[in-house]
Amino acid sequence: MRAAERVEEARRCIERAHRVAVLTGAGISAASGIPTFRGPGGLWEGVRPEELATPEAYARDPQRVWSWYAWRYRLAYQARPNRAHELLVQLERDKGDGFLLVTQNVDGLHARAGSQRLVELHGSLHRARCEACQHRFPLPPPETFMPPPRCPRCGSRARPDVVWFGELVPGRAYQRAAEAFRTAEVALVVGTSAVVEPAASLGRLARLGGAYLVEVNPEQTPLTPLAHLSLRCGAEEGLEPLIGPRAPGTA
Ligand code: OAD
Ligand code: ZN
Repeated sequence: MRAAERVEEARRCIERAHRVAVLTGAGISAASGIPTFRGPGGLWEGVRPEELATPEAYARDPQRVWSWYAWRYRLAYQARPNRAHELLVQLERDKGDGFLLVTQNVDGLHARAGSQRLVELHGSLHRARCEACQHRFPLPPPETFMPPPRCPRCGSRARPDVVWFGELVPGRAYQRAAEAFRTAEVALVVGTSAVVEPAASLGRLARLGGAYLVEVNPEQTPLTPLAHLSLRCGAEEGLEPLIGPRAPGTA
């Protein structure tokens, strides 16, 4: 089958499906100017994740860890959702209850674009969580934000409300994600290197459950061999022919 026919086949699968699950990673926000983690120019270049994104790093040097998160918060706050985020909002509107978007991103851009059936598996840069009472609260705008924030309920120091390496993703969020992927007719995996668990397993779960699996990523990933269709391109370019509006006059 030619490439265009394979895209058309995937598009029809998506159109027909009642249950669609989508997993996104840092690559979907690249076009919004937010750096990815792995690869050239990525956040992990020259830094080991353990130095910044673990409970041990935070215990050792909370100010350094907070500075890094405050910088990323400012980037995310100033960024705008791109066409790929918007196309996923449209897909959610088309599918209704049968849709779930699971993201590993903490930039908040899916929510800002308007996605509602959304699981932010790794938390959010826009919130902090009290170290004593676990209360979650939004950060003030970056212009006035001075880390570390204090809990508005009990005054204790608060940490970024994100999941660090060595921590568990919230159980209920993962259950909801796993259920959606296990029962999906179509699963889309966009802009993730698919190496960090448990998110990486969602694509495999979908495949085991009989889903048609589509990947959009300029690079190969461990999921590529499992995908029915793997589009080697950016998220905006890949999602447009799959879920964008059809050109007038085409069926
Ligand atoms: P990565 O940085 O590991 O992977 C980003 C992926 O996006 C790569 O596979 C790129 O090929 C791809 N990519 C780059 N530009 C793209 C574009 N324009 N469109 C589509 N894809 C593009 O990011 P994640 O897979 O999200 O966790 O990383 C997963 C987790 O590891 C993160 O949530 C974070 C990180 O360490 C924690 O901090 C706990
Ligand atoms: Zn508190």
